[in-house]
Amino acid sequence: MLRLGHGLLGLTQDTAGLAPSTRVVIAGRPARVPDAPLNPPIVPASSFIAGGALEYAREDAPSTHALESAISDLEGGRTLVFSSGMAAANSVLDQVPIGGIVVAPDPCYTGVSARLTELHAAGRLQVRRVDITDTTAVAAACQGAALLWLESPTNPLLEVADLPACIAAGSKAGAKTLVDNTFATPLLQQPLTMGADYVLHSVTKALSGHSDLLMGAIVCRSDEDAHTVQTRRVLLGAAPSAFDCYLALRGLRTLVVRMDRACATAALLAERLGAHPAITRLRYPGFGAMLAIELADSTAADALCANTRIWVHATSLGGVESLLERRRRWPLESARVPEQLVRLSVGIEDAADLWSDLRQALPT
Ligand SMILES: Cc1ncc(COP(=O)(O)O)c(C=O)c1O
Repeated sequence: MLRLGHGLLGLTQDTAGLAPSTRVVIAGRPARVPDAPLNPPIVPASSFIAGGALEYAREDAPSTHALESAISDLEGGRTLVFSSGMAAANSVLDQVPIGGIVVAPDPCYTGVSARLTELHAAGRLQVRRVDITDTTAVAAACQGAALLWLESPTNPLLEVADLPACIAAGSKAGAKTLVDNTFATPLLQQPLTMGADYVLHSVTKALSGHSDLLMGAIVCRSDEDAHTVQTRRVLLGAAPSAFDCYLALRGLRTLVVRMDRACATAALLAERLGAHPAITRLRYPGFGAMLAIELADSTAADALCANTRIWVHATSLGGVESLLERRRRWPLESARVPEQLVRLSVGIEDAADLWSDLRQALPT
């Protein structure tokens, strides 16, 4: 039996009129009754006694509800969490009819891009890649499309789309519209309020925030889409573990303070990096905690990654720790990404320490 329930633990959700920093703390808590725990319990069960709303954890499980309810509160839709961001992405791609057209950014996150290439090559669907900064080109590409896939800012070029205009063009053409909101987070933009049908998150990143789990989420504007996405989760077998849901919700509670700090530091670093003679190009959209810089060549970029003490040379982003990497070290990364580009994910360490670490590692 499929159901979309968030009431099994008596979760309370009276967050109307409250600021995101309050909502993220109070959403998805058990009802305030004597002896109730403050935090929703981890329920490690694959199966449930028959006769009630729950049957089998691949379909639905109490441990996902609190987290889904908190993400829904922030994004303003109906959330289903998945075992990774890629699993979440596949739950929407899986709904495209055979041979259907998907319009996607060139480039977008490597995993999604590689999956689109694979599905296109197999004849499963057709991909039209577009420059998402060119709204006219996006609108033209949407003619006859089944799905408009947006990512803004993009990974790793930090290109920004005119989301309301692109979403409107996609919807007008009859396409479903999805926005990968992993970089911006619901604190900086809420695509469902702009008319998008779906928001995707790699919960692995800023939402959970501690680089200690893999998870994804699809937030749907309509209950009907949520039901379809939930069915995909069941049939693709992509449910997250109870323990990971607990960790992700624990991380989500501090999203606002982490993002406030990381975004402020990113703005400061953008200013300093932009003025540094070794940086040939700075990519910073003016918001968020992600930056990309270009150096003279890939050797200089590799040397920067090898010579920092605080910044960690590692992939991924959105955690409390600052990470950097030369994206083209990945064979699947788009050729549109310059070889000498280093992507930086700003964490919550001291801003002056982060800057002095970069400065000592950059060529003079
Ligand atoms: C923008 C974006 N979307 C989706 C994903 C995929 O998420 P996951 O790694 O959790 O599968 C990533 C991962 O880096 C990403 O950066």
